[in-house]
Amino acid sequence: MKVAVTGAAGQIGYSLLFRIASGALLGPDTPVELRLLEITPALKALEGVVMELDDCAFPTLAGVEIGDDPNAIFNGTNLAMLVGAMPRKEGMDRADLLAANGKIFTGQGKALGDNAADDIKVLVTGNPANTNALIAMSNAPDIPRERFNALTRLDHNRAKTQLAKKLGVSVTEITHLAIWGNHDDSMYPDLFNTKVGGKVAADLVEQSWITDEYIPTVAKRGGAIIAARGLSSAASAANATIDHMRDWVKGTEDWVSMSVPSDGSYGVTEGIVSSFPCVVKDGKYEIVQGIELNDFSRERIAASVARLESERDQVKELGLI
Ligand code: NAD
Ligand code: LMR
Repeated sequence: MKVAVTGAAGQIGYSLLFRIASGALLGPDTPVELRLLEITPALKALEGVVMELDDCAFPTLAGVEIGDDPNAIFNGTNLAMLVGAMPRKEGMDRADLLAANGKIFTGQGKALGDNAADDIKVLVTGNPANTNALIAMSNAPDIPRERFNALTRLDHNRAKTQLAKKLGVSVTEITHLAIWGNHDDSMYPDLFNTKVGGKVAADLVEQSWITDEYIPTVAKRGGAIIAARGLSSAASAANATIDHMRDWVKGTEDWVSMSVPSDGSYGVTEGIVSSFPCVVKDGKYEIVQGIELNDFSRERIAASVARLESERDQVKELGLI
């Protein structure tokens, strides 16, 4: 399998590449060829990372190619992880990155459309991830839309741990959790359908905890990490990127949160890339249907969808889609 990673010399890249090469993405029996894209000034640093990959002697690493030309790097690629983009700094919102990062995804979308393998799956991690995925998708009209996803698995993992800590249970007891909407502070982790040891999570906690503590903690976790570390999350972001792509390729047992192009399910505006509860079988995801959403959930989801619509309108104005 040819796996492309952009921004490979960055923080997330430094965690991600070693996990992919060690078999954490596709398992111990699937050789992986890494295709690593960077901007020209970062290629020297990337050469150093490749030296370290060599020094691990990973049995599953079949080869590494690096470069600054997306057409060459994406040639024949089966899986693409689009990480390369500027991270936000303290005090910024992710949407503030649109003007700087959005244009990266026009060229990369086109290059994927022209060069990737027929079975390409594209996962966007670079922020603002949902709308960058929309940009890449819109610039690759020959690739089926559903092959473009964005990362909200980090929010999903955060939501799981925060709930597990509150209830003093293991994360393994929590199922049917989902993040809805945008990977920004309007994201909505729904506890009214989440199960903990078979019980409804929302029945085990106070509504005031959900509204005043849980949702803000999950939604603002990225900012809390920037405030503490002086840098945005990296190892956990790489881990979530692997979780999402692995599940998309290999399938799921429980619901997972995936940002996917909306087909209009649950009234989410068609075409925007929004997070839904999904299941995956045979390499294809499906948005879980028939979930009951109460008024509180519907309002929260609508507010997050409004943010995505506003980002979509902004990139339309910028001529990126
Ligand atoms: P970083 O600055 O450490 O690395 C980014 C890398 O991308 C740099 O090496 C840079 O040279 C490279 N790059 C820039 N433009 C490029 C281009 N056109 N082609 C290829 N490479 C390019 O940043 P990071 O901490 O690794 O974060 C990367 C992105 O991921 C940021 O936008 C960050 O906000 C985002 N992020 C998203 C999530 C999520 O959950 N969706 C989580 C964490 C971080
Ligand atoms: C995160 O959620 O950690 C990332 O999106 C980085 C950020 O800017 O918060």
